[in-house]
Amino acid sequence: MHTTVGIIGGGPAGLLLARLLHNAGIDSVVLERRDRGYVERRQRAGILEQATVDALRAAGAGERMDREGMPHDGIELRFDRRSHRIDFPALTGGRSVMVYAQTEVVKDLIALQLADGGPLLFDAEVRGVDGADTDRPSVRYVHEGREQTLTCDYVVGCDGFHGVAKGAVPESVRTTYERVYPYSWLGILAEAPPVYDELIYAHSRRGFALATMRSPSVSRLYLQVPGGTDPADWSDERIWDELDARFATDADPGWKLERGPVTGKAVLPMRSHVTEPMRYGRMFLAGDAAHIVPPTGAKGLNLAAADVIVLARALINERDAGSTELLDAYSDTCLRRVWRAEHFSYFMTTMLHTDPAQSAFETRLQLSQLDRVAASPHAAAELAENYTGLPLPG
Ligand code: APR
Ligand code: PHB
Repeated sequence: MHTTVGIIGGGPAGLLLARLLHNAGIDSVVLERRDRGYVERRQRAGILEQATVDALRAAGAGERMDREGMPHDGIELRFDRRSHRIDFPALTGGRSVMVYAQTEVVKDLIALQLADGGPLLFDAEVRGVDGADTDRPSVRYVHEGREQTLTCDYVVGCDGFHGVAKGAVPESVRTTYERVYPYSWLGILAEAPPVYDELIYAHSRRGFALATMRSPSVSRLYLQVPGGTDPADWSDERIWDELDARFATDADPGWKLERGPVTGKAVLPMRSHVTEPMRYGRMFLAGDAAHIVPPTGAKGLNLAAADVIVLARALINERDAGSTELLDAYSDTCLRRVWRAEHFSYFMTTMLHTDPAQSAFETRLQLSQLDRVAASPHAAAELAENYTGLPLPG
């Protein structure tokens, strides 16, 4: 089999890239290791930046998002037992975000691709990329028990943090940057209406907590827990009690979350990671395959979308104008945005979490930083601009 663009991985990066290329008349094949049900059920974050919302609409994938997604104009910060709202449109000249779960974006993109797009193969595990630095790269994969080869004009590794594409970049040309945090998130999904209109990010002496949502009747909540925590150690009641304790404020001491059946519970590690460059020969890396951010700030999906928007434009330009200029600039263009999001995610994470080794001095610094965000429109605007996301280049 031959295709113009061989895409490894059917997460948001691979699926959006396939859709953008299809819309431009460029053929692709998506190879996804897992089955459709697994990919559609995988719980991930749920905040779309303005640029991601615009791109999904422009790609014809925004219909259900516009019906069911929840536009949000701000977030609440709780710290030192008080509360402060960040007003996005007022601080950014009108930008906001959309609460719409990554799993829903993935379902929408899969349905479109299966309806009229190029091949999207599930249960197709890629074993390796050959000849990435030649004119005819190829992808080895196993599907229906047989090892097969897909030859391509270009290969794109959208295969996430544990994927194989990165491994096709020789170590001599690859640099990685990494930070692992000494805590994790325990995330739950609950059949309980959110009693808050906007997301709440809480700093407390007991650790970080986040209240977010999936719909008017489903809450999504996170607690900072020690790395290596077994979710079985946390009963539902213990989770609800701990969430209430971390969100408590003096102004509204009776404030409590509405409780309901917990339908999912998982522990997520926290990591920052960047692999440079994001290109080797005719192979490109996009999304989590090239970079990971800790989830505080919800940048992962948005970075993945930005990468493939930049890449699709470059591939279209190469076809239409015969110029590789944008493809040659791909890695640098993306990395500028990636490092901004890496910094912002690190800033949000370290400002809001309690490191087990943290001194009382460092806690005072965190509270001073939060107080500054609450007191200064300049400091708040810096947070709001990054949270709602920078405009895409070009
Ligand atoms: N062969 C085929 N598919 C693979 C292989 C392989 N060898 N290895 C991994 N995959 C698939 C995974 O099963 C997954 O569906 O690649 C996909 C990668 O998807 P994601 O991990 O969702 O990564 P990405 O599309 O870059 O989206 C980034 O996902 O991890 C979150 O928070 C992150 O929101 C961000 C987003
Ligand atoms: C989520 O809705 O799951 C979510 C929202 C914001 C974050 C992280 C996760 O910062």
